[in-house]
Amino acid sequence: MSYPYQIKSLQQYKEAYQKSVDQPELFWSEVADTFEWRKKWDRVLDWNFEEPKIKWFEGGKLNITENCIDRHLQSLGETPALIWEPNNPDDRVRVVTYNRLYKRVCQFAQVLKNNGVKKGDRVCIYMGMVPELAYAILGCARIGAIHSVVFGGFSAQSIADRLEDAKAEYIVTADGAFRGDKIIPLKNVIDDALIGNRTVKKVIVYTRTRTPVSMIKGRDVWWEDEMEFAETQVEKEGVVSFPAEEMDAEDPLFILYTSGSTGKPKGVVHSSAGYMIFTTYSFVNVFQYKPGDVHFCTADIGWITGHSYIIYGPLSAGATSVMFEGVPTWPDAGRFWDIVDKHKVNIIYTAPTAIRSLMGYGTAPFEGKDLSSLKILGTVGEPINEEAWHWYNKHVGKEKCPIVDTWWQTETGGILISNLAGVTPDKPTYATLPLPGVQPILVDEEGKEITGNPATGNLCMKAPWPSMLRTTYGDHERCRLNYFSTYENLYFTGDGALRDEEGNYRITGRVDDVLNVSGHRIGTAEVENAINMHYGIVESAVVGYNHHIKGQGIYAYVICNVVHTDEEHMRQDIIQTVSRIIGPIAKPDKIQFVQGLPKTRSGKIMRRVLRKIAEGETENLGDTSTLLDPGVVTDIANGKLN
Ligand code: PRX
Repeated sequence: MSYPYQIKSLQQYKEAYQKSVDQPELFWSEVADTFEWRKKWDRVLDWNFEEPKIKWFEGGKLNITENCIDRHLQSLGETPALIWEPNNPDDRVRVVTYNRLYKRVCQFAQVLKNNGVKKGDRVCIYMGMVPELAYAILGCARIGAIHSVVFGGFSAQSIADRLEDAKAEYIVTADGAFRGDKIIPLKNVIDDALIGNRTVKKVIVYTRTRTPVSMIKGRDVWWEDEMEFAETQVEKEGVVSFPAEEMDAEDPLFILYTSGSTGKPKGVVHSSAGYMIFTTYSFVNVFQYKPGDVHFCTADIGWITGHSYIIYGPLSAGATSVMFEGVPTWPDAGRFWDIVDKHKVNIIYTAPTAIRSLMGYGTAPFEGKDLSSLKILGTVGEPINEEAWHWYNKHVGKEKCPIVDTWWQTETGGILISNLAGVTPDKPTYATLPLPGVQPILVDEEGKEITGNPATGNLCMKAPWPSMLRTTYGDHERCRLNYFSTYENLYFTGDGALRDEEGNYRITGRVDDVLNVSGHRIGTAEVENAINMHYGIVESAVVGYNHHIKGQGIYAYVICNVVHTDEEHMRQDIIQTVSRIIGPIAKPDKIQFVQGLPKTRSGKIMRRVLRKIAEGETENLGDTSTLLDPGVVTDIANGKLN
């Protein structure tokens, strides 16, 4: 596999960038030409940000799985596509070659077909990090079904909401998932999510943990039985095939739910062709992938990072991608380094929160581990602090590996701002420069562009890139309101940023009411809604505060309707409620009981004050004169939790 679009020098980056801005259509059509199409496109780009309308490669026909698998079979058939490292290091590693991946994906596509799944149907996938998750995703893509993967840390209620929003009729799950020393009973959670559900027709259940499950006649089927039967259908005289559905370039590939500043997660919709092209392009350029390299992205496939940089980007590039079932600290904090050593990993891509948590264990976990295969390190998900950057550089990269700090979002589909490993300079805590085709600008509150350097402002994009979201599922107006209405003719990221003299971007964090907890995006309104469901709660306000490992912690101010003698018990009840409604990832770290919340005359909560108090500031709280009752603030500040 060769990558004619791979940028190899700073000069080439500058040229590619300039061309992508001056002649975007020519630029992207040249990249697109390197992919497999059933039919080439009629028009490269058609867009406006008012509706918004974003169409790339209209008229083009393809199937992403032919690009991720079929096109590699001849030259890379026996090359590992996925190396699966199990939760328990003593269990058997599974190496899935491209040939094997092809067979399994064909088989599973047949399973889906046998169970009535058709092009355009929504399939919810709720599984742990097992190779079967990759087969499920790619099987959907092969028959043109729209997958919606839900992270294993979400509750039954969250799944139920997503099933309803996507009108999903099919589910793929497992009996359970191993995570460190825990077992997550996935099928039981699905069963709870399905109470009262009338749309789901079939649930396909993979056996992983042998957790007891209730299999409902007529609805639930075992993965193993279905695969065995499908094998007889797709394999004839040793030749495996399952015709891939021909998809329009703009046909939706998947939905992935993500939090915003409202109480309800949005179903971000990605396209087939644009998503494929940009994830591949960014993978090959940011990580400077060379054929034969072993790429290890530690993310869970339940998040966008796993979709784009474990599955689609690497596989489309014919790469070898490591998939890890477990957690970084089990059985001990050397697990990542074991994996690097065992599989001779060349590229590791992880999150600042993981780095910070591993820093706490010192250097003992590195002892006896050979990390000399590593060439490139990456981070994603949240701003990386200087200390974590240097630790990563020193102890993991041994000061010889470039670090790519990649900024992007669920909505952007792929990496938009990052240095290209070893090609463009890195700068600690800076995501640095935009990729070709990406046109960031900073604006002030009124949406006026802030020109000149250095500058700080709200980060927007002024032109479309191929993998940007197309809509929010079932509600296009919501997409417009969320991303395209704050500033005219701009895509608003929700992030603040600063730009240095050289034009490098440093992302400073969200400027809306969205928290980033351990790299997980959580809306404050969602957590408030969940807390407010508890019968003893009148009202709540949730803000983020600096947390030394998680990046941000969740601080909840809560008004109860009765006085509680056992506050700790009440706290546990609230935590339990949030776990049930959203999932354990959204549990508040701190809960302070208050008598009132600082509200303006129009009834808006003055979060700025609450954020300051949560950070430990009790004196200089700024102007509170517009509050209905400024006295509330003093009471809250006096009751601040440590
Ligand atoms: O605030 C930014 C932060 O994560 C948000 C996107 O979250 P999500 O959609 O869950 O996707 C995470 C993985 C792509 C952004 O709005 N973020 C992501 N990467 C960085 C970052 N903040 C600073 N630096 C980064 N490299």
